[in-house]
Amino acid sequence: MPRQLFVTTALPYANGPFHIGHIMEYIQADTWVRFQRLRGAEVQFVCADDAHGAPIMIAAEKAGQTPQQFVAAIAAGRRRYLDGFHIAFDHWHSTDAPENHALAREIYLALRKNELIDTRVVEQFFDPDKGMFLPDRFIKGECPNCGAPDQYGDNCEVCGAVYAPTDLKHPYSALSGATPVLRSSEHFFFRLSDPRCVEFLESWTQDGRLQPEVANKVREWFKRDASGQPGLGDWDISREAPYFGIEIPDAPGKYFYVWLDAPVGYLAALKSRLDTLGIDFERYLAQPELEQVHFIGKDIVTFHTLFWPAMLKFSGRKTPDRIHVHGFLTVNDGEKMSKSRGTGLSPLRYLELGLDPEWLRYYLAAKLNARVEDIDFNPDDFAARVNSDLVGKYVNIASRAAGFLHQRFGGRLSADLGVEGRALLDGLRAHAETVARLYEDREFGKAVREVMALADRVNGYVDQHKPWELAKQPGMDAALHDVCSVCIEAFRLLTIYLKPVLPALAAQVETFLRIEPLQWADHQRALGGHGIGAYRHLMQRVDAKRLQALFEAPPEPDAAAVATPPGGEPIAAEIGVDAFFQADLRIARIVGAEPVAGSTKLLRLTLDVGEGRHRNVFSGIAANFRPEQLVGRLTVMVANLAPRKMKFGLSEGMVLAASHADEKSQPGVYLLEPGPGAVPGMRVR
Ligand code: 2FM
Ligand code: ZN
Repeated sequence: MPRQLFVTTALPYANGPFHIGHIMEYIQADTWVRFQRLRGAEVQFVCADDAHGAPIMIAAEKAGQTPQQFVAAIAAGRRRYLDGFHIAFDHWHSTDAPENHALAREIYLALRKNELIDTRVVEQFFDPDKGMFLPDRFIKGECPNCGAPDQYGDNCEVCGAVYAPTDLKHPYSALSGATPVLRSSEHFFFRLSDPRCVEFLESWTQDGRLQPEVANKVREWFKRDASGQPGLGDWDISREAPYFGIEIPDAPGKYFYVWLDAPVGYLAALKSRLDTLGIDFERYLAQPELEQVHFIGKDIVTFHTLFWPAMLKFSGRKTPDRIHVHGFLTVNDGEKMSKSRGTGLSPLRYLELGLDPEWLRYYLAAKLNARVEDIDFNPDDFAARVNSDLVGKYVNIASRAAGFLHQRFGGRLSADLGVEGRALLDGLRAHAETVARLYEDREFGKAVREVMALADRVNGYVDQHKPWELAKQPGMDAALHDVCSVCIEAFRLLTIYLKPVLPALAAQVETFLRIEPLQWADHQRALGGHGIGAYRHLMQRVDAKRLQALFEAPPEPDAAAVATPPGGEPIAAEIGVDAFFQADLRIARIVGAEPVAGSTKLLRLTLDVGEGRHRNVFSGIAANFRPEQLVGRLTVMVANLAPRKMKFGLSEGMVLAASHADEKSQPGVYLLEPGPGAVPGMRVR
């Protein structure tokens, strides 16, 4: 029976686009899930928008929208990021979906039946202009400690003092500016201080399912204070109308606090996913072997190690098996990736700049471990690791061997490989379980280092056997064939080990090697005698200039879209379809590419457009591509452009590439490529 896993990441508030901290968490979880799937596990990997709460309600009002419209607009923007970074959730849901309303009430009613719900009168600041109770972060005033003006209701950003909103001097509502008044209302509490809860949580949090540092931290929260009061206080789970949330059963005008129904959203997302698969939700959760795993950041540990397991336990449900807590991502040794400020590195800009998403996946993997440590994004480190490790050590193995295999051996691997080659490959295979254990334990950095050490061995083997010299020596064909075949086999093994991190690259490798999608167990197989496809450039190196653009004041996504035309230039004047068809666009294969002596801008391309002859085209892309990156690729060319006599010779057409109008601030040139199946000579229309 395959391992059964239900995996989530934290549900992001639907109040803004993803920031890099979200993307890091998703990449971490996605890598883990992909690893589990390669090992044969059956996984439900889901997430959802965390839709409720006062801040979203207020933001929607400001935007002149209903909260539902506001949240829907945010949700509509999610796919771009998820697809862009190859984050493959099985389902994306919303905590405002009907499943969540139903499940949250059901869980609440079960807790109430268990006598774990209490009511109590609470005095809070109320905005008389807005007619609503104010959440702490919407109350401002003078710090009671240092007197700094305009400080938030919970702590002072100037002196760091922590206090209650009622301690502020001259408090005012950040919504209306009105002076808030104290008003009482009845609140609902989850009685976490009940001995049943305390006893359960003391054991649940300390039984080895949490990371040691998390378990230690949690232990402090149980300590009794000087008067012998248990450390766990009851949890206020209700908010007064107006509130965007789920109404509490039998309590009109009262809503669940957003943090009550948010984690229930994990279950709602799962249920919605299982419904589409025709699997019964309760039966799925009742499987004794099912493992429930949540990936979260260190700022929301309390909710996931106290409130959430207690809610589940005392409503008669399965509790999480593991909570995988990660630290924050900082940029350039500094600024915390604050959720509310969203500073730093914009994931959307990363994609828009055409930076390879797998560079980021690789870099983050190389930095991640199983501890709750912050990790730092450093551009120099990023470029170095991608260029010298990922491309220099791993990708290069294939490019060093594939050419010879094609030129000399019809693309067929040798069956024998020689004693030394077989020993090298067996050595690589022997590390499969070590690497697997590291992925399992979320020690991705160690896993990647292990794989790079294996790549070093392979490169050592290449340097020792020097295929480029064997190729020149008469009578060394068999040796050359073996060495290159060993390289390709080694490359396949390393690809298996990196596939959780680099899914798109692995798919390209599978096409290149003409093999079925790789599974973990495929490391035991061998490709002897197999015919591989033509080598195509698999991954570019990081260009430091393009990376730098990532840190140059990213324009606000929405504002930018309005203020600047797409791609930096207005859409050209309208033309009729006839005018368009005057240009004859054809698929061309680049069969040759070389630098042009006397020009730093131009490359001389030899193109095959299926005419039975080759064309010579000069293209101004020398700054963006090295010739060997282009040879073999298909692209689109203007085939009926009048030939142009240039200083270097005749240019018989033009290849098509995309770029931003302002190439200085947004460098990057992207060659157009057809989808799979297109052949030279086909017309583009
Ligand atoms: O901290 C946050 O961004 C929350 N929206 C996380 C919720 S996780 C889960 F409980 F829904
Ligand atoms: Zn202060």
